[in-house]
Amino acid sequence: MSEHSDSEYVFGRHQPASHVIIHVSDPHFLAGGARLGGRYDVETTFARTLEAIRAVHPHPDAILVTGDLADLGERDAYRRLRAAVEPVADELGTVVVWVAGNHDERPALRAELLGGEPTQEPVTGVWDLDGLRLIALDTSVPGWHHGDLDEAQLAWLSEVLEEPAPHGTLLAMHHPPLPSHLPLFDILELRHQDELAEVIRGSDVRGILAGHLHYSSHGTFAGVPVSVSSATCYTMNVARPAADVNGMDAAQAFEIVHVRPDTITHTVVPVTDAPTGDFFSERWLAKMAALSPDERLEAFSRKR
Ligand SMILES: [Fe+2]
Ligand SMILES: [Fe+2]
Repeated sequence: MSEHSDSEYVFGRHQPASHVIIHVSDPHFLAGGARLGGRYDVETTFARTLEAIRAVHPHPDAILVTGDLADLGERDAYRRLRAAVEPVADELGTVVVWVAGNHDERPALRAELLGGEPTQEPVTGVWDLDGLRLIALDTSVPGWHHGDLDEAQLAWLSEVLEEPAPHGTLLAMHHPPLPSHLPLFDILELRHQDELAEVIRGSDVRGILAGHLHYSSHGTFAGVPVSVSSATCYTMNVARPAADVNGMDAAQAFEIVHVRPDTITHTVVPVTDAPTGDFFSERWLAKMAALSPDERLEAFSRKR
């Protein structure tokens, strides 16, 4: 395993994760730290998200943010987001991968987050995370909220995927190539999905990470698992009739992605304050690790 190996205890049949990625989505920052829609204190919920990220893993391979980074594409919003995330990324010794969403404006995103020229070029990139390839696509369409991938971007993706990566590839994109059960969401769906599926089939893509929905959702696309991370700003209250689902200031979440040789898991992490038990601890783990497999089974599996 690489130096990025997860330092978890392994008592079962699966090998440890070769890579751990923090998947965050939809921060929707605004200039001056304004509340989103006058309601949602997006910077506070994001700060709490960053606290949780610092707690869950000491050294993830990447912090991936899958779009709608800024709500109105204001330059100050990007500056504020960068100022919030970069110190945490530095502390954890990891990279930040920014993905553009429909609320973003490419020129401002490029100038403030990437330190580049403020152009309308799609915000794409390829990262070699110690043998795991992460490819960021740009499904945003300037001037619109629906998603799309044009011929040039699909051709570029196809070319990148020609050469497989040692640990395979993850695709990151804002609009998920999945249906939503909420009416109207499909107006904003990703276009040219058949063409994208064509490019992905037979490639080394092992997972697709997306956002946009503001609720957690999972499915498959072209045989590849897709995981939609919920939002950090507000989430859709899906515990309501589908036609009456609206935003709520609760259930903000991100995902921890454990990439193992045989599988990839996406764990939804609710960012919440709740009274929490103290039964399990590092000390308890060390005690279990000191036992033989039979003793461990006796201690932990046997019904009393
Ligand atoms: Fe969003
Ligand atoms: Fe979106």
